[in-house]
Amino acid sequence: MSHPNRASVNPANVPSARYFPHVGIAAKMRVLDVGCGNGDLSRVMGALVGPEGEVVGIDRSEDALASARAVPPNPENAPIDYRSADLSGELPDLGLFDAIVGRRVLMYLFDAAATLVRLARLAKPGTILAFQEHARADLPNGAGDLSVHRQCYGMVWDTVAAEKGDVMLGYRLAPLVRAAGFVVEHARSEGVLIQPWEESFLPTLARVMLPRMIEHGVVREGDVDLDTLAHRIDDERRATNGTIFWDLAFLVSGRFEGVE
Ligand SMILES: C[S@@+](CC[C@H](N)C(=O)[O-])C[C@H]1O[C@@H](n2cnc3c(N)ncnc32)[C@H](O)[C@@H]1O
Repeated sequence: MSHPNRASVNPANVPSARYFPHVGIAAKMRVLDVGCGNGDLSRVMGALVGPEGEVVGIDRSEDALASARAVPPNPENAPIDYRSADLSGELPDLGLFDAIVGRRVLMYLFDAAATLVRLARLAKPGTILAFQEHARADLPNGAGDLSVHRQCYGMVWDTVAAEKGDVMLGYRLAPLVRAAGFVVEHARSEGVLIQPWEESFLPTLARVMLPRMIEHGVVREGDVDLDTLAHRIDDERRATNGTIFWDLAFLVSGRFEGVE
C-alpha cells in the first residue's frame, strides 16, 4: 500500500529557512545557492532578495534541476536561474555574488575544503556565506524504544559514508569556512525534531534514498519493504509518545574577508 499523504516536507529544511533571513541577506542582492536540489532554498532566497534581486542555483543533478525549473516563478520574488555545475571541479563563470548559501551539500563532497576555496573566488569583500550542514551523531534519542528510527538513521549515514561524503562535516564547517577566507560571524546548531502527532518524513526519506542504499550495499535489494518500514516507523513514534530528537543541523554564517 502506498502512502500518498506522507509528509513531503523535510523538517531538516527548517533551520536554514529560519536562520538565513538573519545573516544580512537583503533586498536586491545576487545570491548563489550551491547544490540547490529542487530549489527549495533558492526560493527562500528569492523571497528574501525580492524582485530586484537575483538567485542562481547550481547542482550537478539534471533531475533535481528539472524539478526546480518546473516550479513556476513568483513575480514578487527574484528570478532564479538554475544551472548545471559540479562542485567537485572547476565552476563555470558565474560572476560575483553578494551572498553564497547552501544546505546539506558540502557533506556529500569528497573535498569540501577545495569547493569552499573555489566558491571564495565568486565572493567579493563583504560577501555573506551561510551554510546548513549535518553530522552523524549518536541519534535519534527520545523517551522510548527507537530501534527502527535508529536503524533508519544508520542506513542514511552509512549511505553518505559509502558515497565518500563527510559524515563529520557539520563539526568541520566553521573551520573550513574560515580557512577559505571568510570571517565566521555566527555558528550554532539546532536539533531536528519529530513530534508523535506529526506525519513523519522518514518513510519519504527512506523511499528517496533506497536506490542509493542498494547501490552501495548498505541494504540488499528485497531486504527493505518500504510500506512495512513506514508502518514500523509510525508504530514506534506513536508508542514513544514523546518528541524524537532525529538529527542535528549545524548553521554557520560569515563574510568574505579575502585570502592573504
Ligand atoms: C540533500 S540534497 C539538498 C538539496 C538542497 N540544497 C536542499 O536543501 O533542498 C543535496 C544536493 O547536492 C547535490 N550535489 C551533491 N554533490 C554535488 C556536486 N558534486 N556538485 C553539485 N551538486 C551536488 C545533489 O545533486 C543534491 O541535489
